Amino acid sequence: MSIGLLLLLIIVGSPVNADGPVCPPTPSNKLSRAHFPEGFLFGTATAAYQVEGAVNETCRGPSVWDIYCKKYPEKCNGDNGTQAVEFFYRYKEDVQLMKNLNTDAFRLSISWTRIFPRIIPFVTVFHWDTPQSLENEYGGFLSANIVKDFREYAEYVFQEYGGKVKHWITFNEPWVFAHAGYDVGKKAPGRCSPYAKERTVKGECLGGRSGYEAYLVSHNLLNAHAEAVEAFRQCEKCKGGKIGIAHSPAWFEPHDFKDAQNGATVDHIVGHRLPKFTTEQKAKLRNSADFVGINYYTSTFSNHMEKPNHAELRFKQDSLVEWKDKNINEVSIGSKPATAELAVYSRGFRKVLKYVKDKYANPEIIIMENGYGEKLGDNDTVAVGTADYNRETYLKRHLLSMYEAICEDKVNVTGYFVWSLLDNFEWQEGFKTRFGLYYIDFKNNLTRHEKVSGKYYREFLSQGVRPSAIKKDEL
Ligand code: NOJ
Repeated sequence: MSIGLLLLLIIVGSPVNADGPVCPPTPSNKLSRAHFPEGFLFGTATAAYQVEGAVNETCRGPSVWDIYCKKYPEKCNGDNGTQAVEFFYRYKEDVQLMKNLNTDAFRLSISWTRIFPRIIPFVTVFHWDTPQSLENEYGGFLSANIVKDFREYAEYVFQEYGGKVKHWITFNEPWVFAHAGYDVGKKAPGRCSPYAKERTVKGECLGGRSGYEAYLVSHNLLNAHAEAVEAFRQCEKCKGGKIGIAHSPAWFEPHDFKDAQNGATVDHIVGHRLPKFTTEQKAKLRNSADFVGINYYTSTFSNHMEKPNHAELRFKQDSLVEWKDKNINEVSIGSKPATAELAVYSRGFRKVLKYVKDKYANPEIIIMENGYGEKLGDNDTVAVGTADYNRETYLKRHLLSMYEAICEDKVNVTGYFVWSLLDNFEWQEGFKTRFGLYYIDFKNNLTRHEKVSGKYYREFLSQGVRPSAIKKDEL
C-alpha cells in the first residue's frame, strides 16, 4: 500500500498530540451524526469546473479542460463544453439544498467566486483547471515556471478570502492529476506515450512521455504546494486558518494472499527520471500540511511485479504494484452493482485510514471526498436516477467504516464530505456519470431533485448535535 501515499510522507507535519478522538457513548439507535465526536464536520463537495458552466461569461479565461473538450469532444464522452453554458450552479437554490441536507460545510474550488454565508467553506485552490495560457506559454505543470505563478495566484486568493475562509486545500488529487493527464492520457492535457495509453482513452495521446512527465509534474506540483503554504502562513488575515492537500489513496488487498507486500522504494527504480529536490525545497515541504485530505472511493487487488518493463516505462508501474480487478481465485473486490463506476469496498476505507494513522504519525485527516458514481445509460430518468438505493447503501457502509476507524482505531478524522452535492461534469465521462445527492435534470432547465441518498444523508445529519459554531437557523 504505497502508491498514491508517497507524497504524504514528505509533507505531513508533526502528529496531533491527543489521546485520540473522543466518541460519545454508543447510542443504540442506527448510525447517525450522534455517534461521532463533538464538532465533527459533515458536508458535501463540488469543484468549479464540474458545476460552474458559464464558460464564456465575465473575464474568465479558458482552462486546459475547455480546450480539451472543445477540440476533442470524444475525450469528454461527447460533451464539448457548451452543454453547461447556462449557469449551472444557482446560488440561492443550492445553498438551500445544503441547508435542507443539514450539512455544516461545503467544499468548493476557488475559481468559484461566491463565498457561502454561515456554512463553513473549504476552498481548494487547484482542481485541475490549469489556465490554457500557461499551458501554451511553458507547458503548464511540466515547467518549473508554474511554481512562482501558482504562488502568485494562491497569494491573491488568500488575500481576497483568507479573512473569511479558514480551511484551505492547495491541490486536489495530485497523483491522479499526474497519472491521468501525463501517463495514460485520460484527462486533460491528455499526454502519454502510445504504449501506455489507457484502453478507454478515445483518440491519440496529445504528445507526452509516459514514465517521465508525471514525475516532473509531481515535482513542480509539490514545490508549488510548498510555496503556497509558505504564502498562506505569511498572510496576516489568514491567521487562525488551516491548510492541507487532498490525496486519493486506493486501498490494495493482495492478489495472492501468500504474497508479501513489496517494500521497494521508488527512487531506486526511477533513478534519473525522478527530479531531485534542493535542500531549500525539502525544507519548505517539511511540515507543509496542517491536515491531510483524503478522497476515498474504492479499493483494488495488487500483485507484486518483479521489475518494471524498461522499454515501456510508466509512472504507475514504477512502484512495482500491478493493479488487478480480481484476485488469484478470480474473485472481485467488494461488490459492484451493474451501473456502478467502481467496486464498493468500505472495509478498505477503514483500513486506509488506519494505515495513514500508523504510517504517518497520526495526522489530522479530513475526508474531502467519498461517493458513488453510476452510469445509468438509456434508463436515465428522474425516477430511476433518484431511486439511488445503491448510493444510499454505499454511504451507510462508508459512514460506518469511518465511524469504526475513528471510534475503534482512534484515527484522527475531523470532517467528511460527500462527493457530490449535485450531479456534475465527470471529466472524461462527461455528464453521463452521476455522483450527486441531488439529481440534475439536464433536459429540463437543470432542475434539482433530491435522491434517496440525499434523504438518507439529511436524516443521518438531523440526529445529534451540530457543531456549536453553526446553528441550524443561521444557515
Ligand atoms: C475525484 C475528483 O476530485 C473529482 O473531481 C471527481 O469528480 C471525483 N473524484 C469522482 O470521480
